Amino acid sequence: MKVILLGAPGVGKGTQAQFIVEKYAIPQISTGDMLREAIKAGTSLGNRVKEVMESGALVTDEIIISLVKDRIAKEDCSNGFLFDGFPRTIPQAEALRSEGIDIDIILEIGVPEEEIIARLIGRRVHVESGRVYHVEFNPPKNQGFDNETGDPLIQRDDDKENTVRERLAVYKKQTEPLVAFYNANDSASHYSHIDGKGSTQEVREKITAVLNQLNEN
Ligand code: AP5
Repeated sequence: MKVILLGAPGVGKGTQAQFIVEKYAIPQISTGDMLREAIKAGTSLGNRVKEVMESGALVTDEIIISLVKDRIAKEDCSNGFLFDGFPRTIPQAEALRSEGIDIDIILEIGVPEEEIIARLIGRRVHVESGRVYHVEFNPPKNQGFDNETGDPLIQRDDDKENTVRERLAVYKKQTEPLVAFYNANDSASHYSHIDGKGSTQEVREKITAVLNQLNEN
């Protein structure tokens, strides 16, 4: 199963990814998580992308495409994978296509902008696992600490309001055109728009219904 989760920053891609990867026993490939890991590890890649990510802009297609190509060549991707935050530009989608990778389903999650801002400002993350919480909408059992490991949670540098607004503008300009791209060019993949308003459980149920229908066909 090969899945793309498409949608603006903060619509809940990482949150919903968690149950989809369990359902299909596939890895979650989050380019954002991979880049943050490189920054944390202080690699040359990390040093190259740190400033760009903090500003809310996109990392170059060249870096991202090479990162993803290496990742999907790994053994654990043999039964498929879930892309979270990739592709994010038309050249990235074209690179995927030119590799001959057929995506089974593209799930585009939509949420109004003001709600996205509230979600991102209150987000807290467990960096090692990628688990995502919200101080109000999805609190951990102990505020500030991961449910599984008890490690402290952090707030991402790019979750400040000004940077969030910049990321939303970047999404509109560079990533939203993918909606038309996939609708116009990709009849082989199933495309579904999911209304991302409502609780995480409600959104999960909407996605489950779409996935179950796909499996039946
Ligand atoms: P990345 O890490 O991919 O960030 P993003 O796409 O901006 O997405 P987010 O992780 O912010 O949001 P999400 O949709 O996963 O929401 P979440 O589930 O966490 O990218 C970061 C940066 O890396 C980019 O700006 C760029 O610089 C670079 N980058 C990454 N990929 C790239 C690429 N392909 N090309 C170029 N550059 C790239 O949810 C958000 C919050 O809302 C959480 O607190 C959650 O608990 C809460 N929440 C979730 N669902 C609900 C709900 N239904 N109701 C209430 N609250 C909810």
